[in-house]
Amino acid sequence: MGSTRFDPSGPLGGRLQTAADKSISHRSALFAAMADGTSTIDGYLRAADTDSTLAAVRALGCGVEVDGTNVRIEGVGLRGAGLVDGVIDVGNSGTLMRLLTGWLSGQPQGEWRLDGDESIRRRPIDRVAAPLELMGARIDTTAGLPPFSVHGSSLVGANHRMAVASAQVKSAILMAGLLADSTTSVSESPASRDHTERMLAEQGAAISVSEVGSERTVTVEPCDRLEPTDRTVPGDPSSAAFLVAAALLVPGSDITVDDVDLNPGRIGLFRILERMGASIEGLPHGDPDPLGPEPLGSIRVTHGPLKGVDVGADEVPSSIDELPLLALVACFAKGTTTVTGAEELRVKESDRIEATVSGLSALGARIEAAPDGFSIEGTGELRGGTIESLGDHRLAMLGAVAGLASREGVEVDDFAAASVSYPGFAADLASLA
Ligand code: S3P
Repeated sequence: MGSTRFDPSGPLGGRLQTAADKSISHRSALFAAMADGTSTIDGYLRAADTDSTLAAVRALGCGVEVDGTNVRIEGVGLRGAGLVDGVIDVGNSGTLMRLLTGWLSGQPQGEWRLDGDESIRRRPIDRVAAPLELMGARIDTTAGLPPFSVHGSSLVGANHRMAVASAQVKSAILMAGLLADSTTSVSESPASRDHTERMLAEQGAAISVSEVGSERTVTVEPCDRLEPTDRTVPGDPSSAAFLVAAALLVPGSDITVDDVDLNPGRIGLFRILERMGASIEGLPHGDPDPLGPEPLGSIRVTHGPLKGVDVGADEVPSSIDELPLLALVACFAKGTTTVTGAEELRVKESDRIEATVSGLSALGARIEAAPDGFSIEGTGELRGGTIESLGDHRLAMLGAVAGLASREGVEVDDFAAASVSYPGFAADLASLA
């Protein structure tokens, strides 16, 4: 495994599109597979994670044609998943693993075995298995982890209240709910990203959303068929976040990222950065229709001074994948930044609390871990050094941004991990430099 060096950079400038959204790409392929008929996806994310999803739906019997980022999927229908010889390999993708389990759990004709890489074998599936089992599913796990088998069953509708907000668990329940014999609902507070609700509603599922205070309940009715659809995938705000952070940290920068998904459930980091004093133009105001199309737009970011902030549990779901990057940004702010209520970070592609704290400490940051987050004392700069990606795509990209903004540059061990979600990242950064 080689390392890649990122040297201190002059001002970043220009405009670009970032990688296509990973969450929406996974769902586009899976929901196309579940539809009756042929769907097209424009601008599909071609990265390791979402390629795993294309391979999975192909293995389940869908016709899949791929031409660059244009994908055409002939669905097998809601109840038509084919049997697979051997295991379905989900690679590094927790989203694929959990959503697919929801769909397969309601198909009594079969049994499927799922497995993935070393990292996926540390990621819990019991959080999906438990609610699905309440609906009549049978899932045999390896002490709550992959590999595991899904024995398709006839499902009954159920009302779920989630202890921890999770879009992956919510999505698995909603997908199973389509196949159940009666209404299914799932409540969470605060709400996680809502792409599944929006996209299934667009494909004709009877979905409704209600809100009481910070609790959001999504209800789904049993369904005979999903309509195929033609979709264009917007840019991924989680990928854009690395470009945004680079522009905020490198003096003199001014960049614009076009066609980014600006779903309120995804832009928590940008809101936090605004509170830190960042100038980010183009963020939406007001509440978009909860079952309408994805809000998207361009954002312009300019370098400027930042101050430390406190981030609590209510902001965690909308910024969950970006919190390690926030820790990097906080090193350059004036004052202390604390993140609490984010214990979920421990069960991501790596233990992102440990990984962030050890990675940034090695670069000279003043950062301390807590069971549910971290605190960072901003010093206005970062020395640099070597950071290990630990095979985690988001840590690899964090290391690169750290290098651009550091005094001495950063060597990122196994930077290739970035290709899980953003294969063109280094080239995009270079194009702005
Ligand atoms: C995702 C949901 C999030 C996020 C992950 C992608 C999704 O996980 O961390 O990278 O596409 O549904 P949660 O299940 O914790 O919300």
